[in-house]
Amino acid sequence: MPNQSPPSRYGAVAQGFHWIIAGLIVTQFTLGWMADDLPLGMHKLALLARHKSFGMTVLMLAVLRLIWRLFNRPPELPPAMTKTQRIFARGTHAAFYVLLFAMPLTGWTMSSAKNYSVSWFGRFTWPNLISPNEHAFNLLKSTHHLLSDLLLAIAILHILAALKHHFWNKDDVLVRMIPFIKSEKRA
Ligand code: HEM
Ligand code: HEM
Repeated sequence: MPNQSPPSRYGAVAQGFHWIIAGLIVTQFTLGWMADDLPLGMHKLALLARHKSFGMTVLMLAVLRLIWRLFNRPPELPPAMTKTQRIFARGTHAAFYVLLFAMPLTGWTMSSAKNYSVSWFGRFTWPNLISPNEHAFNLLKSTHHLLSDLLLAIAILHILAALKHHFWNKDDVLVRMIPFIKSEKRA
């Protein structure tokens, strides 16, 4: 773990990971929900192929992001935050990191259990993680669905918390995650 003093704001790499992955998560929900509404057919399979490719991109970025995070301290939370708020904020961030791995891994294993290939934008195919197994497929499908609900709930709380910091507490928590904006005027 790093032992240098914490920076006053997130750096460009942390911001880049944050916003690219946030954009991909929105894309994943859009594609997943659109596919969910369609009957089995070419259109559904095309949407799911894209969903899988973007999802595996999230997995690759999550690996890089976690490695980066382990060697780079984040800024301190504002001193005005209570102990409970700190535990909540850190817990939410930790849950995000777990879900950034759990979502793609359950999706990938689910596809393997059905022997559906997982390609990365048609460039290469990821190996199957397990042998075909209908029971495992059903279990993983429910888990993927349940975890996506959890991710959605945490993301909504996270966004509301960021907005509360900005508009209610008027601290620099949101601004320090946004590229090119200076946070001098805020606490
Ligand atoms: C961060 C990454 C991911 C997120 C946020 C995500 C989210 C979702 C959501 C919201 C759905 C809609 C249906 C539901 O509510 O269960 C879904 C369905 C699905 N996802 Fe993902 N997913 C991710 C990654 C992956 C990956 C990497 C794969 C496969 C390699 C995958 C395979 C699937 C499949 C096959 C379905 C359709 C399941 C069905 O038959 O209903 N997902 N995903
Ligand atoms: C849904 C996709 C999102 C995911 C998965 C996500 C994930 C994360 C994670 C893991 C962190 C902790 C960073 C670290 O210390 O390593 C973080 C921080 C942060 N996120 Fe998000 N985020 C998402 C969307 C958003 C959105 C839309 C906003 C703005 C409204 C936002 C605002 C922030 C802020 C301000 C921080 C810094 C908090 C602090 O300084 O402690 N995030 N996010």
